[in-house]
Amino acid sequence: MIRKISTVSMLALLVLACTHDPLFDPLDYQLESRLQELSPDGTLSHFILPDSDDFNSIPQGVGNRLTAEKVALGKMLFYETGLAQDAIYDAGKGTYSCSTCHVPSAGFMPGRIQGIADGGVGFGLNGESRGMMNGYNESDLDVQGARALSLLNVAYVTNTTWSGQFGARYANEGTEYAWTDIREVNHMGLDGLEAQNIEGTIIHRMRVSPGLLDTLGYIPMFDTAFPEFPESERYNRVTVSLALSAYLRTLLANEAPFQLWLKGDREAMDDQQKAGAALFFGKAGCYRCHKGASLNSVEFHALGVLDLYQTGGFNTSPEDIRNYGRGGFTGKTEDMRKFKVPGIYNMADSPFYFHGGSKHSLHDVVEYFNKGIPENPDVPGSQISSFFHPLNLSEQEVQGLTEFLKKGLHDPNLQRYVPTSVLSGNCFPNNDPLSRAHLGCD
Ligand code: HEC
Ligand code: HEC
Repeated sequence: MIRKISTVSMLALLVLACTHDPLFDPLDYQLESRLQELSPDGTLSHFILPDSDDFNSIPQGVGNRLTAEKVALGKMLFYETGLAQDAIYDAGKGTYSCSTCHVPSAGFMPGRIQGIADGGVGFGLNGESRGMMNGYNESDLDVQGARALSLLNVAYVTNTTWSGQFGARYANEGTEYAWTDIREVNHMGLDGLEAQNIEGTIIHRMRVSPGLLDTLGYIPMFDTAFPEFPESERYNRVTVSLALSAYLRTLLANEAPFQLWLKGDREAMDDQQKAGAALFFGKAGCYRCHKGASLNSVEFHALGVLDLYQTGGFNTSPEDIRNYGRGGFTGKTEDMRKFKVPGIYNMADSPFYFHGGSKHSLHDVVEYFNKGIPENPDVPGSQISSFFHPLNLSEQEVQGLTEFLKKGLHDPNLQRYVPTSVLSGNCFPNNDPLSRAHLGCD
């Protein structure tokens, strides 16, 4: 095993390999041994995302065994604009879906600084042209005080949202005192995804009733997905959440070049990306927070980035509880201004980074980490993570790291997760007249 070989013999091996094998790239060697060193079991498989139909390897939620039938149903409901019947004005009815704010071609982010569901109009190419619908006031909009998180690789997110407030286990053990309001759902004992998505259809003004599901044509799919549920409990927000969550667990960026490289295709990344990856897992220290296969973690850190009210979101303010991150949920001083470490695959698809969307290129994100100076005066210095400090990377290193994020961690084929149509036959992700025109639905 390579880890056990001494540095001297490794160097000798390197020289030998370089002279004898024209395909041998020392960068592969360096990255491979570094990853083996970081991996708990000493193998690269720790960093490999499973195939989307390999249900035994995908992390499953308690009480939500993954099945192809649930995934197929969730894959429809996520895009189904027909559910949008609880819009506050008639003009909004039937016009939005989960995918309005989690656009597949935008890396399952909104494609703009803030997602707008009910009360929004327009799409553009990627969600970037969405604005406010005539007749809605700012306070009527379904918008949140933080940028929507990407949904890629969320199977690895045990406690969801930037504050980690959903999910009964893992990071939330001991936070039962804070399970009030929308978080009461945690008392059901579910994990983050399954718990959050029960509330999600309410918050996002979607109607879930046996009558509507029947009208839209979904009853047979529920019957196949949930045969063990008595009929009286089969068509409701819980089963909708289980199906949505099952689908979300299959959204894996397993075709990204870094993933292909891990699985043995040493040419999937070019030298600049490999050098960037070596920095990510080495000198630049990114791996200390971005861990495991999805490069996320359910740990909370303050990087002192701007909040959404400072960068121009609708309907948010200095008082918005979301500005406080984990602290807004737990109420603890030590948690204030700390945010969950997000996954970072396919970030190139939607250029609005951090919870307040304050950075618009991955180069700027890397520069922010390289400079190590907090930009938000509202965040007390005592809260800032001790891992956030100047990195002294050269411009060339910054470029390499940026390339790794931009291309190495970019799955080019997310379209495989999108259905060709939904049962209502409606346009999606959005179904308002302007979006229909943008999406070519008319
Ligand atoms: C109006 C825009 C909007 C709509 C519509 C929307 N979301 Fe989100 N979503 C967000 C925002 C914003 C966040 C981050 C919220 C926070 O951290 O407080 C988020 C977070 C999430 C997360 C947590 C991810 C993580 O890593 O913690 C999941 C899961 C999710 N949404 C699923 C859904 C599902 C399923 C639907 C449809 C029922 C949906 N969303 C509809 C904006 C939206
Ligand atoms: C101290 C832990 C920590 C370290 C070290 C760290 N990150 Fe992060 N990273 C986070 C957190 C927390 C966020 C979200 C912060 C926020 O929005 O408030 C984040 C956000 C990001 C984002 C934006 C994700 C999004 O959804 O907007 C990218 C890209 C990123 N980090 C890349 C890196 C790179 C590259 C490095 C190494 C130079 C790095 N991170 C080092 C914790 C860390």
